[in-house]
Amino acid sequence: VKHIGVLTGGGDAPGLNAVIRSIVKTAIREYQITVTGFENGFGGVIKNQARELTEQDVAGILPRGGTILGTTNRDNPFHYPVVKGNEKTFADVSDRVFENISIHGIEALIVIGGDGSLAIGKELYDLGLNVVGVPKTIDNDLSATDQTFGFDTALTTATEAIDKLHTTAESHHRVMVLEVMGRYAGWIALESGLAGGADVILIPEIPYNMDVVVQKINERTREKKKFSIIVVAEGAKPQGGEMVVNKHVEDSFDPIRLGGIGNVVAQAVEAATGKESRVTVLGHLQRGGSPTAYDRILSTRYGTEAVNLVAKGLFGNMVCLKGQHIKHVPLDQAVGELHKVPVDGELVRVARHLGICLGD
Ligand code: F6P
Repeated sequence: VKHIGVLTGGGDAPGLNAVIRSIVKTAIREYQITVTGFENGFGGVIKNQARELTEQDVAGILPRGGTILGTTNRDNPFHYPVVKGNEKTFADVSDRVFENISIHGIEALIVIGGDGSLAIGKELYDLGLNVVGVPKTIDNDLSATDQTFGFDTALTTATEAIDKLHTTAESHHRVMVLEVMGRYAGWIALESGLAGGADVILIPEIPYNMDVVVQKINERTREKKKFSIIVVAEGAKPQGGEMVVNKHVEDSFDPIRLGGIGNVVAQAVEAATGKESRVTVLGHLQRGGSPTAYDRILSTRYGTEAVNLVAKGLFGNMVCLKGQHIKHVPLDQAVGELHKVPVDGELVRVARHLGICLGD
């Protein structure tokens, strides 16, 4: 292989630039391979927005968050939006991917992305494109790797936020609710809650009962503890599903209308306990900024191994972490099933042993 392409897809995550840098350096120094970067995920391949990446281009980007290539959650070549007048339809434009890749003489494509981008990569591989995947997402919800890059940084940011919220919680004797990301998996909430000493942690995998949460806050008040910290994942749901009448909040449960799940929980807690409550939505702050040392190293290892796989012709695989070792798995094992928090796993048991309320 003499020429490879690389793209970053889906939401940004700290460590993307570290992976790009590692790919470029390894390709050039170890294998004398030319690297072309596509801009804004698969959109750049479809529209042929590409540029060569030299060592000069990646100099100094190791500690920078985001991605120098740009990214997007849209632009799936198998479901590409086509607007005609007022009408929007979707078309399969995957032939453009093959066309543009061959215009550049690119022999393999490295896709750095989460579940969505890797699923597209797998479909393209099935059609004959030489694809290698690198697992990215701050949510850590890809099942074929022990850890995605970006998670450690998000976890660190969330933990620092909990530490800071303790200040106001203690001084004002309040209940402070922190809403963190995690639509389907509660890894950020559970681990930052453990690291930051939260009293209640609500995750999508364990539907919560507000009565149980309220009991926990009241119990702390009886124990003369004047404040409480609740960490809630954005995907947390009350028992009984999405639309239930929650007696602690007057309206029926609709987190979007009520301003997010953090608000729903804070309002319910204040109504039921009489304790002043506040909510902080961490939002994209947990996706930004400089990657931690752990994420920089993991990203660098992933980038190098992705190029090693290309050089060995091991296409259709995703690099992954198994224990302490960098390995690879077939892309079809890497997509589909999400890696959720095991409800009877060790971390959940540790939380319960410490008396942390998980809402059930
Ligand atoms: O997939 C990562 C994630 O951070 C989710 O937890 C979150 O719901 C989502 O991205 C938000 O993405 P965006 O703001 O880019 O639509």
